[in-house]
Amino acid sequence: MRILVTGGAGFIGSHTVISLIENGHEVSVVDNLVNSSEISLKRVERITGHKVPFHKVDIRDREGLDKVFSATHFDAVIHFAGLKAVGESVLKPWEYYDNNIGGTLVLVDVMRKHGVKNIIFSSSATVYGVPEIIPITEECPKGKCTNPYGQTKSMLEEILSDLRTGDEKTGDSNPWNVVLLRYFNPIGAHKSGLIGENPNGIPNNLMPYITQVAVGRLDHLNVFGNDYPTHDGTGVRDYIHVVDLAEGHVKALKAIENKCGVAIYNLGTGTGYSVLDVVKAFEEANGVKIPYEIKPRRPGDVAVCYSDPKKAERELGWKAKYDLIDMCRDSWNWQKNNPNGFEE
Ligand code: NAD
Ligand code: WQD
Repeated sequence: MRILVTGGAGFIGSHTVISLIENGHEVSVVDNLVNSSEISLKRVERITGHKVPFHKVDIRDREGLDKVFSATHFDAVIHFAGLKAVGESVLKPWEYYDNNIGGTLVLVDVMRKHGVKNIIFSSSATVYGVPEIIPITEECPKGKCTNPYGQTKSMLEEILSDLRTGDEKTGDSNPWNVVLLRYFNPIGAHKSGLIGENPNGIPNNLMPYITQVAVGRLDHLNVFGNDYPTHDGTGVRDYIHVVDLAEGHVKALKAIENKCGVAIYNLGTGTGYSVLDVVKAFEEANGVKIPYEIKPRRPGDVAVCYSDPKKAERELGWKAKYDLIDMCRDSWNWQKNNPNGFEE
């Protein structure tokens, strides 16, 4: 298929571009590089041996997007472009609503103008709020999101689903197909060590924080709370290798091909690990010590969050292959070979 990947220069996007190419798809990328570097795409080209047409366009730029869709007919869009820092979204809500919701509204308007009505959207486990069921199935009711970032994901799920409903009610002959992929905690990196996660400033997320401690950019890890009702008191999450996640997008194209209407899938491994489990696995996988200090709980954190990923296996034939040791090894391989990310 011919696929447009928005946000394709970013962490998950760049890995997905590789998986798509390896599975025979033709890929173009749109990204405004607000949180990424074009170097990641150069490295994707090195890994795959394929040229990746790149358009430096903001998805809020209607004319810019229109040109991209006029030049190439796409079968589907995989939509990663968005801002994703939870804490920043509390301080800059307008910027998050404008970029994530405003941007997506422009994107889908341009898509429908060009008759492209197949979209795979990057959603998040954050839409479950404090989950009512563990492990979390797709039937688990959505919860209250405590921050504007999470709200944008939850609202965009509704907006994209409504597009399909509208088409059904009006009997549109080319109705939308919408796949909502709810990612759990993506970590790891491509085995080449050429691409990986490259956060700006001090990382908010656990694994990039750990790798920056390991590489000596940060002194020690702060563990946010050791009094949760979990096996060691620290928060439990469903970490998933970014390459498994990327493969999930390739499999999700099957749902589009089968004209799925609206389909929702959790992408996780189904196994929860605590913060201290991750520290231990990282030390074991890489032979590097990670000093840590216990700190108070981080506001907004839940105790336990992990998926039931069986629906994706049943319907898409997708299952995560990599374990926590693989994730720790590949995260470190990326960081140690690129201590300053994509700065060359
Ligand atoms: P990322 O920041 O590395 O990638 C997002 C990309 O989108 C970046 O390259 C950025 O430059 C681009 N972008 C942002 N706004 C844009 C705009 N207006 N126009 C064009 N490009 C724009 O983040 P990621 O971790 O790869 O996440 C990808 C998607 O997955 C995001 O939508 C994110 O919310 C979602 N997600 C991520 C996680 C996670 O933990 N990483 C979890 C769940 C969902
Ligand atoms: C994991 C665990 C922390 C950092 C976030 C977003 C979510 C999704 C994925 C986009 C928790 C603990 C962390 C640190 C720590 N993103 N921790 N010290 O919070 O599960 O999810 O990323 O959609 O929306 O909220 O991930 O990596 O921040 O935290 O102790 O320095 O590690 O308390 O238990 P989280 P995380």
